[in-house]
Amino acid sequence: MKVNKLKIKTSDSKYEIIIGQKILKNSYQYIKNSCPNVKKIALVIDRNIPQNFVNILKTSLKKFKVYSFKYSVNEKFKSTHNALKLAETCLAKNFNRNDLIISFGGGILGDLSGFAASIIKRGINFINIPSTLLAQVDSSIGGKTGVNSKFGKNLIGTFYQPKLVISDVELLKSLPKREMVCGYAEILKHSMILKSNFFSWLSKNSAKILENKNPNLITQAIVKSCKVKLYFIEKDTKEKNIRMILNFGHTFAHAIEVQNKYSKNINHGEAVILGMLMATKLSYLKGVCSLKTLNLVQNIYKNNNLKYSLDKFFKTKEYNSIVDHMSNDKKNNDDRINLILLKSIGQTTLPNSYKIKKNELKKIFKKII
Ligand SMILES: NC(=O)c1ccc[n+]([C@@H]2O[C@H](COP(=O)([O-])OP(=O)(O)OC[C@H]3O[C@@H](n4cnc5c(N)ncnc54)[C@H](O)[C@@H]3O)[C@@H](O)[C@H]2O)c1
Repeated sequence: MKVNKLKIKTSDSKYEIIIGQKILKNSYQYIKNSCPNVKKIALVIDRNIPQNFVNILKTSLKKFKVYSFKYSVNEKFKSTHNALKLAETCLAKNFNRNDLIISFGGGILGDLSGFAASIIKRGINFINIPSTLLAQVDSSIGGKTGVNSKFGKNLIGTFYQPKLVISDVELLKSLPKREMVCGYAEILKHSMILKSNFFSWLSKNSAKILENKNPNLITQAIVKSCKVKLYFIEKDTKEKNIRMILNFGHTFAHAIEVQNKYSKNINHGEAVILGMLMATKLSYLKGVCSLKTLNLVQNIYKNNNLKYSLDKFFKTKEYNSIVDHMSNDKKNNDDRINLILLKSIGQTTLPNSYKIKKNELKKIFKKII
């Protein structure tokens, strides 16, 4: 079976993203190539990954000294307390900079383990083996690590690139449908922001991807999606400008998550799905995109039964609070809300070029839900 290797080069690092089916068993060789001097490994495992996959990985790592830790994860787990606990456990085992933390899980475990790796002795090796679709197409690449704070999500963190990412599509077989939708949200975003042919391809194949029965199509979607993310990261690793385009729909989404108090009613991917449609409707309302573009986006939502209206989740009186949360977004640099809008499929506005006043957005909010 074909193994896809994408190379990423940032100003201070170079690494590979390996994507394929049943590639977990080859982990030893991949790790040896990217971290030749590693002796000790802290293997951080998500408890929901079926044991057969854990066994395959552990068998492949048997030549190393492996300490494994299994966790049940949720956003509360992504804390400074747990990151420091992991860091200090590695210190207690005398890990040095040649040693390695491997995250074997979704975005939560990857963000926390990458953060711990970045602060141990100012940085030990880190490898990500993402086990959710969202992590394979998004969170495992780009080097954003972090944990949550009582002041907000992902507010404590670092930019720290992994030495390697191994995405085995086989791992997605046990993933619940709702988590597939979450990853799909980011694939959809990637298909809308850079090239129009990815969106046309996705419009034809979305149903099969969401059914999670066609590993070849899913592999292609992951590869295409990673390529879009890499395009932005290589140009702007530290998110000073062009990388902000990857936030398309996310300012709405983060505010929705805050208003929802991060409860399971709406998870991150579902908030992104809502947020991208709202951003597209605002784009149309402001004359930034055409009705044809809006219809193309609405069709992909309808055809795939994606939740696409905010009024299912919130009372009208809560809309103003959502806008208030948007005005607290860390990407705003004056008193207006800084947004990425859609010009056409495959093209967005540039970062910092579209800003809207809080009161104006409140007035038109009902038209974009
Ligand atoms: N660093 C970044 O650039 C970046 C980008 C996007 C999102 N994120 C972060 O990622 C997190 C969300 O990531 P996520 O969606 O992967 O969530 P997650 O890590 O919570 O995983 C989702 C669920 O799937 C389960 N799971 C994981 N692998 C499984 C498998 N193979 N089979 C069955 N169940 C499995 C987990 O236990 C969990 O219940 C958020 O904290 C978000 O802030 C980070």
